[in-house]
Amino acid sequence: MNILLTGGAGYIGSHTFIALREAGFEPVILDNFSNSHPVVLERLEQITGRPATLERGDVLDTAWVQDVLRRHEPAGVVHFAGDKAVGESVANPLKYFHNNISGAVSLLRAMDAVYASVSAPTSADPPTLVFSSSATVYGDPATVPITEDFSLSHTNPYGHSKLVIEEMLTSLRLASPAWRVGVLRYFNPAGAHPSGLIGEDPADIPNNLMPYVTQVAVGMRPHVNVFGNDYATPDGTGVRDFIHVQDLAAGHVAALQALLSKGESFTVNLGTGRGVSVLEVIRAVEHASGRPIPHVFAPRRAGDVAQCYADPSLAKRLLGWEAKRSLDEMCADAWRWQSSNPNGYRG
Ligand code: UD1
Repeated sequence: MNILLTGGAGYIGSHTFIALREAGFEPVILDNFSNSHPVVLERLEQITGRPATLERGDVLDTAWVQDVLRRHEPAGVVHFAGDKAVGESVANPLKYFHNNISGAVSLLRAMDAVYASVSAPTSADPPTLVFSSSATVYGDPATVPITEDFSLSHTNPYGHSKLVIEEMLTSLRLASPAWRVGVLRYFNPAGAHPSGLIGEDPADIPNNLMPYVTQVAVGMRPHVNVFGNDYATPDGTGVRDFIHVQDLAAGHVAALQALLSKGESFTVNLGTGRGVSVLEVIRAVEHASGRPIPHVFAPRRAGDVAQCYADPSLAKRLLGWEAKRSLDEMCADAWRWQSSNPNGYRG
């Protein structure tokens, strides 16, 4: 059973590729390598023992995406492709509205056209989509843990783009009930495949905590700036729900299996339910790497919230999925990837 992964060469897409193959699916990668590297395909072949199928191009090219769908006839599509740097989205919102929102519209139109002939509610083969959303859609949550019925908002154009796409998917399902849509709201993905062959490979200075900390551990950067130590949290630093990318990948397999077998759409949090502070992450990477990680306290980063962690019980109830891996495992795997690939896929 083919599954199309837009952005399948990226960080979460590549880990999901492996999980899907292990579960008996045949994933096809669609990617334009705007924020990923073709070397990932060699690594995926090394890990899974078989070459990966690639369609190189852009989701914005609706006619080409239609052609890809017709040729591979995927039973489902996982839409990872999109830009994800918060700061860049504030500086260049049109890039995010175009690539993320127009990109999603293009994919949905292509799917709608290709599956139109089989999109009656009674059909055995309706359009099936898993969408990579984010906990960013909760804006500044009033309390934690966060359940899916919390109010939604956005604090930057990146978050806005995720929210607009979620709303578009709701409208689409209302208009065309045959669509089966799984919206996955990721918390903070971290870690890497245990082989150390694939992992997160930020093109520039990392914005996110884990890659920054591992780059300090490997000596690429002098110290970690801890953004704020005066939050109302146990140690004063920000608290987040770091989830192992392998658990996240398993969540996509569970989501696809649920959509394909039960046919009901859903929106779920993918998190561990456990809040971990910035200082706890630094200590855990020190432990994993056996190296001291210098850090300095810096002012709060604009737009950050004190605490953000999931109530993941809906995903367990609907998908039978829960995160299994610990923070130590996440840091050990992130460190293995970072130390054996200091420059990521660029060698
Ligand atoms: C960020 C985005 C979120 C996006 C997610 C993608 C913001 C406000 N939110 O989440 O929309 O979906 O990335 O993975 O940018 N920190 C430091 N020093 C650093 C980097 C981070 O102290 O060098 C702290 C932050 O202040 C925060 C925590 O570490 O308290 C996690 O930060 P980060 O990894 O950037 O994730 P989020 O901000 O939670």
